[in-house]
Amino acid sequence: MSGSEKKIPNHIAIIMDGNGRWAKKRGLPRTMGHRAGAKSLKKILTHAGELGVKHLTVYAFSTENWKRPQKEVDTLMKLFKEYLKNEKNTMMKNGVRLMVSGKKEGVNKELLEEIEKTEKLTKDNTRITLNIAFNYGGRSEIVDAVNKIIKDGIAEITEESFSKYLYSDIPDPELLIRTSGELRISNFLLWQIAYTEIYVTDLAWPDFNEAELEKALNTYMKRERRFGGLINEK
Ligand code: IPE
Ligand code: IPE
Ligand code: MG
Repeated sequence: MSGSEKKIPNHIAIIMDGNGRWAKKRGLPRTMGHRAGAKSLKKILTHAGELGVKHLTVYAFSTENWKRPQKEVDTLMKLFKEYLKNEKNTMMKNGVRLMVSGKKEGVNKELLEEIEKTEKLTKDNTRITLNIAFNYGGRSEIVDAVNKIIKDGIAEITEESFSKYLYSDIPDPELLIRTSGELRISNFLLWQIAYTEIYVTDLAWPDFNEAELEKALNTYMKRERRFGGLINEK
């Protein structure tokens, strides 16, 4: 292991999956799983900030999640608005800058206003960025970037200049965590995870806590990142 691999990642991305299954196992409605999931996010955000992580991107609603029953979609929208309202003061206290990445289409006006308000309020906070991927799809992000490039009349791009057209200019995540065991990406951060280390746990998101985050970090820090090159070559 070289020195750089022992560092806490600058950017962690999380696919917060398994809320529904967590609730079902307890005989509760799926909604209760999402509520419990919001509590997990609060804990993980605080702990990530304490550990020195600079950016936390969490997948909260995908462009495919509209396929779910209307009632569940409505609840997820409502919970997100509540989260922003309730967490504002804590974000200010803990130096959290909020950013939301995703498409605006289909998201109701009140929620969009709440997002804008919170982004503005927290824009000068520097301890940690909480980037919530909401109505987010990796493919949409790439297509939206290409359309912006066309609109700007740009004839040729590089990997670096392309990255600037994505929803946020946060550096690529070093670590991607997925809870609840599925071994897939589900349209999350397709461009940014080219060389990201992946960690999957069977625990459902509401059961993921500070100790589990540290477990994921310890595993990450033992990984040998090669980026296509060779390491330990004699
Ligand atoms: C993740 O939990 C939250 C969202 C996708 C909004 P799920 O709701 O996908 O929970 P499972 O995968 O059905 O258990
Ligand atoms: C990914 O989870 C999206 C979020 C966590 C918001 P899904 O539950 O939607 O993914 P699939 O359907 O299992 O691939
Ligand atoms: Mg799921």
